[in-house]
Amino acid sequence: MKNIKHILATTFVALSLTAACTASAEGMPPEKMKQLQGIMQQQIGMMKPELQKKVKALSPATKKLLMKILSQHNRYSDRATLRQVMHEVQSDYQSMLTGIMIDHPEQAADSAMRLANHRIPVAGLLPYMGLENINDGQLAVLDGFNSAVEGSAKKLAAAARAGDTTKAASYVGDITSGCVACHAFFRGQPGKSSLIK
Ligand code: HEC
Repeated sequence: MKNIKHILATTFVALSLTAACTASAEGMPPEKMKQLQGIMQQQIGMMKPELQKKVKALSPATKKLLMKILSQHNRYSDRATLRQVMHEVQSDYQSMLTGIMIDHPEQAADSAMRLANHRIPVAGLLPYMGLENINDGQLAVLDGFNSAVEGSAKKLAAAARAGDTTKAASYVGDITSGCVACHAFFRGQPGKSSLIK
């Protein structure tokens, strides 16, 4: 497991480094930038001091990356946890697959776009990622996961909108690899019991 985790992480770090070079946070209109900074400030305000300290210590490049990710979402919840959002994402993912399987590209495209613009949980993503991961090195992988999941979901939606279900289907693997890689990196096996020897 360690090994797979390492390989996945290395692949995605490489991917994210490539993507980081083309990051377009500078290209963002100033009003949008200001709005996102406001949202981030609000999220930081909800965090406990130990997490706040870690977030404030992040480099400008990491903060820019977080902002770039946030800029691709416009649905925020003031109560849903990441776990709840993940179940919602899972439902969109399944609906997207159904759309492909029944050759109903409109369902596939709409579900893929819902997935790509998934809700942001209360106080943002960081409170759910583990305190040990809130540093520049660990968070750099997010860019790769984001392109694999959200980026490929948008490509899938575009192919479905063009009526090409076969091409749309070809992106499912990229999306799934992104989900799995992020889980291997930040989550591990869900529901493990501390009461088993
Ligand atoms: C940015 C990293 C990341 C990406 C990308 C990601 N997940 Fe998750 N996912 C998590 C984390 C972290 C958790 C654990 C959350 C917790 O327990 O608080 C999780 C948990 C889950 C769970 C389990 C929820 C539970 O009740 O334990 C499901 C199901 C899930 N994700 C589905 C998906 C699907 C489907 C995708 C891809 C379309 C995806 N995730 C992409 C980070 C990610």
